[in-house]
Amino acid sequence: MSKRLVPLILALATAATADVAAQDVPTFTADVAPILYESCARCHQPDGIGPMSLLTYQDARRYAGRIAQKVETRQMPPWHLDKTVGIQAYKNDVSLSDRQIETILTWAAGGAPEGDPSALPPRPELPDGSEFALTAELGPPDFVVRSTPYTVAANAQDQWWTPTTTFEGIIDRPRYVRATELKGSFPDGLKVLHHGHVTLSMTDENGRRSSRPIGRQGVGKGGDLFPENTGMLIQPDGQLNWNLHYFPIDEVVEDEQAIAAVWLYPEDYVPEYETVGEQRFTADMGGDMPWAGDIVLPPHSVKVQQGTHVLDRPALISSFRPHMHMRGRAQSIEAIYPDGRREMLGRVDNYSHFWQIAYEFEEQAAPLLPRGTVLLITTTWDNTADNPINPDPRQWVVFGQRGVDEMSHVWMGMTYLTDEQFERLSAQRTRIAQAGGDD
Ligand code: HEC
Repeated sequence: MSKRLVPLILALATAATADVAAQDVPTFTADVAPILYESCARCHQPDGIGPMSLLTYQDARRYAGRIAQKVETRQMPPWHLDKTVGIQAYKNDVSLSDRQIETILTWAAGGAPEGDPSALPPRPELPDGSEFALTAELGPPDFVVRSTPYTVAANAQDQWWTPTTTFEGIIDRPRYVRATELKGSFPDGLKVLHHGHVTLSMTDENGRRSSRPIGRQGVGKGGDLFPENTGMLIQPDGQLNWNLHYFPIDEVVEDEQAIAAVWLYPEDYVPEYETVGEQRFTADMGGDMPWAGDIVLPPHSVKVQQGTHVLDRPALISSFRPHMHMRGRAQSIEAIYPDGRREMLGRVDNYSHFWQIAYEFEEQAAPLLPRGTVLLITTTWDNTADNPINPDPRQWVVFGQRGVDEMSHVWMGMTYLTDEQFERLSAQRTRIAQAGGDD
């Protein structure tokens, strides 16, 4: 080899190595910002519910270690589903792909470099916190109702506010609801309302009493948009029962009013399927489940509780939303079919008390269950020191309202079907599955 070529080859080799190294460590502008803008910015921005903004390189760099830790353990973005079992097709899945997680971890481990500033994507369009999330899709709601004002103290334990208001003069005849959304008022109410619901107690023209949820809210939960051709029937007069659970945020929030928005189907439209909205299935009290008294968690223990509910009609489940408190770790719903077959529908294995996420099934994947199906709900609590938010593993824990007490139930979006509707939907699914198979 000629003497002149050696330095040239060396130089080329060094350049190549430098290139590989540069390619190995992702940069903020080219690789990480697109992920943060898409999956984190709506909450991690100055007006969002996240504790810090992650819009600029400086912010992201400062929190790089914690970002890596939260995405690696799949705590952020908040999506606490067990990805190894059950149905995996959800409309509102916000989780990161393995590859995106890898990118963030390699970036943080490689010193969190900025990269070429000109590669930075444009700032994402951030949601206006004063608007309802469903407005983007449905336009403004047909009506809104407000709770009576409540002042949330700066520093206190959890607070509950359960006023009633009248529901009169808002609609003038029975109507079908297409969607609902409940939220605290902008900006501080959004931060103090941990979860809440408002139900309409009403009497129909035959004197039958019933109640329907016209807004359910929990941290991380959006509005409820019913599947196509599905509506919830409400009557023109009745009473609204509010149940609002506030968490103080270190500053007084004066005269807070929760707001529920309702979108209706057109006046003469009768949807094919009638839903009852989100319904509570308890593993902890009443009905055909074990009673609340069954929750007894000894100090330093991991405990499991199961409850069952038999469907007396066929049903379509559009979503599920687990509910436990600080010791909650996992919750699953399984179906035991009349022929004995058992199927895991969904399981949350990374539960966080801070979040009330509704896992909304894709329409074709939503469980379609025959009459006689047994729903088996399994709750796991961790009252040991391994649970990072356990306030005190030395305590006995029983059922109760406070975050330091426990609960065990799951909200499910329920549409009960006639036998004829069930047969039709089952046949439709089979047709779609076969058509998909032919492709
Ligand atoms: C739906 C709103 C929301 C989204 C989306 C979201 N976060 Fe968060 N994040 C929060 C809230 C609220 C908290 C505080 C409560 C908690 O830790 O669960 C938090 C906490 C965190 C923390 C811990 C902060 C601390 O003080 O230790 C990190 C780090 C974080 N988020 C990063 C991210 C990243 C990275 C993404 C996107 C990949 C993301 N988050 C998506 C709302 C959100």
